[in-house]
Amino acid sequence: MKTTAVAPSNIALIKYWGKKDEKLRLPANGSISVNLSNLTTTTTVEFRKDLKKDEVIINGKRDEKKAERVMKHLDRIRKKAKISDYARVVSQNNFPTAGGLASSASGFAALTVAATKAAGLNLSEKELSILARQGSGSACRSIPDGFVEWLDGETSETSHALSLYPPSYWDLAIVVVLAGGEEKSVLTTEGMKRLDTNPFYPIRLSRINEKIKKMKQYLSGKKFEEFGSLVESEALELHAMTLTSSPPIIYWRPKTIKVMKLVQKIRENNVPVYFTIDSGPHVCIICEEKHLKKLLQMLKRQRIKDFIVNKPTIGARLVDGHLF
Ligand code: PMV
Repeated sequence: MKTTAVAPSNIALIKYWGKKDEKLRLPANGSISVNLSNLTTTTTVEFRKDLKKDEVIINGKRDEKKAERVMKHLDRIRKKAKISDYARVVSQNNFPTAGGLASSASGFAALTVAATKAAGLNLSEKELSILARQGSGSACRSIPDGFVEWLDGETSETSHALSLYPPSYWDLAIVVVLAGGEEKSVLTTEGMKRLDTNPFYPIRLSRINEKIKKMKQYLSGKKFEEFGSLVESEALELHAMTLTSSPPIIYWRPKTIKVMKLVQKIRENNVPVYFTIDSGPHVCIICEEKHLKKLLQMLKRQRIKDFIVNKPTIGARLVDGHLF
């Protein structure tokens, strides 16, 4: 059977940075995210008797390194489904990869949903999330809808994501401003390993559950300013971790800093906007929908044109219409 899935990328409000089990991708702490409507991956999978090996085409290209990780994930699914056929996988992002935008969350979520169905499995949302996590940690959060929490869990079976609120819960806009650059300088797996050298990381971990509790309170009360301040300080803390690991990692580019400062300036003009940044140079600006027009005007005034406007959206889904 040939199946196709679409999955959104997600932006972390409370970040996943560090693992307690490398092989199973068990995170050191829980995290919270929101799915992004305009950063999606579509993936078609078909297991076929006539193939001698897996065929993986991502954004029109055969990339050995990326294919290797996809094949490992297909192995997990073959094992679960008790099948041995190789697969043809074609995957397409709706955003330019050349910009260095991360696609592993949407990519592994779409692959998990499409390939499990193609292999004849009918998994629950929880089972899909557990499986997606093993492909790429943050991918487990792209399975459920809207605003999502990933429970850290002590075992593979208990470390999965679930929806806290549907996408329509809060009319937020998330504007991803592209700050240039090709592929990421240091991959997340390597970046997280360097935490072993970081004297401040134990302090982060000692405070993280309190932060998660606060984030959930602000979400439940829709307290935008408290929510935004926490989102922003959490992003800065992630980068404080990368900057103080050894060797240090600087994910920012000049434009990253320009946009961070602009967000602070816009806020001084009484427009409540906040930023967050994952392990790359791009800046996500978050505001309530009612302030989006004003924010876009301000970006235009600064001649910032490279951005993608998102709203919260549903998680990974099977769709009609295959890529091959
Ligand atoms: O799942 P990965 O390996 O793409 O790691 C994601 C790490 C961050 O994006 C920096 C934070 C997060 O929680 O998504």
